[in-house]
Amino acid sequence: MALIVCHSPKGGTGTTFVAAHLAQGLVAQGAEVTVLTTATFDPLPLHFALPPATRLPSLLAPADQAVVVNGIDLRKMTRAEHEPDFAAMIGDLGFLEAGNERVMIVDVPSGQLGFARSLLEIAQLHLCTLTAAPECLSMIPRLIDGEDGVWGAQSMLVLNRLDETRRLSRHSAAFLRELAGSRLLGRVRLDEAVPEAGAMLQPLDRYAPTSAALTDLVQIAQAVGVRLEAEGVAFDTSAVDTSAVDTRQAAADVRQSAKQSRVA
Ligand SMILES: Nc1ncnc2c1ncn2[C@@H]1O[C@H](COP(=O)(O)OP(=O)(O)O)[C@@H](O)[C@H]1O
Ligand SMILES: [Mg+2]
Repeated sequence: MALIVCHSPKGGTGTTFVAAHLAQGLVAQGAEVTVLTTATFDPLPLHFALPPATRLPSLLAPADQAVVVNGIDLRKMTRAEHEPDFAAMIGDLGFLEAGNERVMIVDVPSGQLGFARSLLEIAQLHLCTLTAAPECLSMIPRLIDGEDGVWGAQSMLVLNRLDETRRLSRHSAAFLRELAGSRLLGRVRLDEAVPEAGAMLQPLDRYAPTSAALTDLVQIAQAVGVRLEAEGVAFDTSAVDTSAVDTRQAAADVRQSAKQSRVA
């Protein structure tokens, strides 16, 4: 079991977008994934090509009310930040048991700092999505020194909306790489296919299976899979549906070859 917190101190950087695609990438590696959003208004259903009016069931709702897309159980709990026993609650639901392939990704809106910080006590991984914009870069020292940010030993950065054709974006990204060092998990390029897929109500892997953003997201999910494995989380790769979309096959292949190269 693994708990992954997706939270950034800056809204609109693509936290939900990364959370949704991380879920898909981990399912491709054999994980059993639940995504929980704690936002009141959240575009999570859109990233799964669900109708915008879709109401996600509560975390506590029974299985027959579940909204499941590609094997990913999508849940919502707006009051989670006011729930003093949230950790106990997800423990009771079996989410904190060691040694199985269940993964819960909690997508926390930027304003819920206290809640995100409290989750760091039980999470295996925290992904903080930033962009190469000055307002994000200027936040990093305060974020990393932990004073009013959300940052822990398991926190990693994802650089999103990288535009390598723009000098400022390129330079800012280089600066961020220097600041974050090994804490930078990966980058996702700015890609018009992302909003286009949303506008077409299609998942990105169907609308633009070879898009730059999707390629980057598959790599990020791969890097997360490797980190979780190092933490002792074992996915059931025999359950991977390799007949699914190409990118899932690619993720499974990359994971397999990463395993083989570690064995060699
Ligand atoms: N790499 C990208 N390229 C293009 N658009 C992106 C990219 N990442 C995110 N977006 C778009 O940015 C918007 C905000 O993303 P979202 O995940 O809702 O942000 P947050 O959860 O941080 O508030 C969405 O419309 C999303 O589709
Ligand atoms: Mg969001």
